[in-house]
Amino acid sequence: MKTLVLANQKGGVGKSAVGSQLAYYLAEKGKRVLFLDFDHQKNSTKPIVKSGRAAVASFHTTDLLLGQAGVMPDGNFVIVPGDDSLSSLERQPDKHNIIANALKAFLEKYDAQFDVCIVDTNPNPDIRYAAALITGDFVLSPIQLNQEAIDGIGSLLNHSRYGYRKIKQAINPKLELIGILPNMVEPTPFQRANFAQLAKHFAQLLIATGNPDMPYAHIPKRSSIAEAQAEGAFLATVKKTAAREAWREIKPSFDVIAQRMKLEV
Ligand SMILES: Nc1ncnc2c1ncn2[C@@H]1O[C@H](COP(=O)(O)OP(=O)(O)OP(=O)(O)O)[C@@H](O)[C@H]1O
Ligand SMILES: [Mg+2]
Repeated sequence: MKTLVLANQKGGVGKSAVGSQLAYYLAEKGKRVLFLDFDHQKNSTKPIVKSGRAAVASFHTTDLLLGQAGVMPDGNFVIVPGDDSLSSLERQPDKHNIIANALKAFLEKYDAQFDVCIVDTNPNPDIRYAAALITGDFVLSPIQLNQEAIDGIGSLLNHSRYGYRKIKQAINPKLELIGILPNMVEPTPFQRANFAQLAKHFAQLLIATGNPDMPYAHIPKRSSIAEAQAEGAFLATVKKTAAREAWREIKPSFDVIAQRMKLEV
């Protein structure tokens, strides 16, 4: 099982939307998918439960992180839902070691049962976020193309406690940054300039596609994506022209991400 962590300290950049749609896609491609929602906002739990595509565990991610996970339901696509107590874990420092170890043990236990585990994290890093990065294999970081978000890349990489480089060097050498995934990309001169700036300064962090027409993976801003999330739908199955077009635009980026995780789709 490969574990992919959706991570960005910024809120509202599309972690949950990308995580949920990628989970549907991989499940539809026959991959066995385990989804863990570490965010008390439950913005991926709600759509995925609504979709009816996944079996819903009877325990929550707080239970899992405290080493009290219950029985895993049968099925090739399972979600362990988020819950309100997740936000209180940070205030219980005596449990922080237990949390990282419990997640590691949980992932080891289900290693053979799933091909991929997708972990959606909360904005504003804390022990949940740290535990995910300490145990994960891959990090994918959706961002928005504004100056503030681009400035935030430094923190994603170099934050003294939660930065990717710090965690990789000190605790989890196998952690691989798939890259930053510009999301909600709009064809405005402002965003084009920001994308060009990103490609100039952070080319190695972007996800190269090998396609000259679309050199780097990214996701356009499309209302059909927000609608699909609100309805708990897999964008590829929404029978509206706009949704079909949006899916056609997104799929190549999802394929590159799957390839980087060595998941054949
Ligand atoms: N490419 C897109 N086009 C249009 N809307 C999008 C796109 N990506 C995400 N959205 C919408 O933007 C909002 C924020 O996205 P999402 O909840 O995935 O962000 P997030 O990073 O998980 O936020 P948080 O940090 O609060 O967890 C949601 O309503 C989502 O449906
Ligand atoms: Mg979210």
